Amino acid sequence: MDLFEALYTTRAMRRVKPDPIPMEVQERILDAAVRAPSAGNTQGWRFLLVDDQEVKARLGPLYRDALGTLFEGHYKPMRERAEATGDTRTLNVLRSARHLADNFESYPLLMFAFIRNDPGGGSIYPSVWSAQLAARAFGVGSALTSVLGLFHGAETMRILGVPEGKGWQVACMVTFGYPTGRWGVAPRRPAHEVSFRNQWGDPVGFETPEPLWTP
Ligand SMILES: Cc1cc2nc3c(=O)[nH]c(=O)nc-3n(C[C@H](O)[C@H](O)[C@H](O)COP(=O)(O)O)c2cc1C
Repeated sequence: MDLFEALYTTRAMRRVKPDPIPMEVQERILDAAVRAPSAGNTQGWRFLLVDDQEVKARLGPLYRDALGTLFEGHYKPMRERAEATGDTRTLNVLRSARHLADNFESYPLLMFAFIRNDPGGGSIYPSVWSAQLAARAFGVGSALTSVLGLFHGAETMRILGVPEGKGWQVACMVTFGYPTGRWGVAPRRPAHEVSFRNQWGDPVGFETPEPLWTP
């Protein structure tokens, strides 16, 4: 697959089929993840795959509770503003995030990423994104989530048997599954609106109103 196609079309794919992800594909996803950079090449990461229905059933209620906390707290003003202004893009993201929570147990594969000695999490996200890109290459959709670790990190680690007192923390969790819908280019604010050259606020020197890769 073309690298740019993968970069432009790897999106949060939360509507997926229950079909299992073949073991060879899981292997390729994790092998790609561990090629990623980390500060000082410390590789202070661990990945834990979950495909056991019983484990998912224990995590699902925690995930829904965590998302509820986020939606009723931090996200509430954003949701209310989106409802008042009819901002369908934001409302769709929230609806899609709710779908993931409501269907947590039906994702065929979850990947938990753990970090140690990485307070900013800067050393884990390259590997997680590599895992998502590798999944994309096999037609597997993914969605990166952080609410479980944010609101129920300790309980999640207990359920997953993570050793205590060793400094491990949940960084994030990724759902994987074959999408029910189609791949599309992620709509974003164009690069020239969020980039500068030499001095903050000075034009970057080009304008890219449309994505430079199209299907
Ligand atoms: C650090 C981080 C945390 C995220 N946490 C969650 C989450 O807890 N739940 C969720 O459904 N999506 C989560 N997302 C996914 C974002 O909502 C998604 O990437 C964004 O809406 C863009 O989606 P798109 O690529 O389909 O346009 C997270 C993404 C990032 C980068």
